[in-house]
Amino acid sequence: MEIVASREGGVLEIALDRPQKKNAITAGMYADLARTLREAEADENVRVVLFRGNGDSFCAGNDLEDFAANPPASVDAPVFRFLGTASQATKPFVAAVHGSAVGIGTTLLLHCELVYAADDARFSLPFTRLGLVPEFASSYLLPLFAGYHRAAELLLLGEPFDARVAYDAGFVTRVVPKERVVETAREAARKLAALPPKSVQRTKILMRGPHAAAVELQRKAEAEWFRPMLGEPAARAALEAFLGRRKG
Ligand code: COA
Repeated sequence: MEIVASREGGVLEIALDRPQKKNAITAGMYADLARTLREAEADENVRVVLFRGNGDSFCAGNDLEDFAANPPASVDAPVFRFLGTASQATKPFVAAVHGSAVGIGTTLLLHCELVYAADDARFSLPFTRLGLVPEFASSYLLPLFAGYHRAAELLLLGEPFDARVAYDAGFVTRVVPKERVVETAREAARKLAALPPKSVQRTKILMRGPHAAAVELQRKAEAEWFRPMLGEPAARAALEAFLGRRKG
């Protein structure tokens, strides 16, 4: 299992556990994540979901090797099921981010309520560099949180950026020393789990609600472009360059 879910009190902790690949996410992992989140929504004992990564990184994004070999065939592919389940979740999400947070490792944070970033965290949204377009409604949510021009720099240039820039872009709650990041996120998750669950969930629903329809529309519009673009020359060349770098 490369997705490890464990519950303590009302907090369901989901650890990405593929440290040798910087927690890059395969189709199998997306399927597990989607199922785990669906079960969490249905389980009244779960009040908060906390995401973190084992090893030296939070998440290096989609597994590019898996993506090249098994591109998502339809909107029902595991990756899109996960994106849909996560973007419609009503229980609050907390994240502890350290090391690399690439692609979905960053866009997932736009769907979290509390994000604690280690001072060593390195984010990036390399979609244009990969010949792709943004996913997970990040082309809607990042301009909303960061302002258009800040979001445009991050999404169009696709260059890595540090925790301070992510904080200034409005999707990191607090930057903390690396050694403290998981415990800080756990403390916050425990505090949330101790509050009346209906109040907490409804507060999330109210905050997300005005944007919910736009998020769903944008997620689908992105996916309609993302899927075919994976097979086009720019993306194929970028994927081959990454895979070739590994072999070389
Ligand atoms: N897909 C598949 N494998 C990946 C991966 C990904 N997204 N990210 C990292 N890996 C693998 C590497 O190929 C390497 O595997 P190997 O040891 O079998 O050769 C291993 O994880 C360690 O990665 P490495 O590149 O050596 O670590 P690093 O610390 O130098 O760099 C990253 C870390 C995350 C900055 C770099 O791996 C990277 O840029 N990855 C691609 C990120 C990406 O474009 N994601 C897709 C977003 S849509």
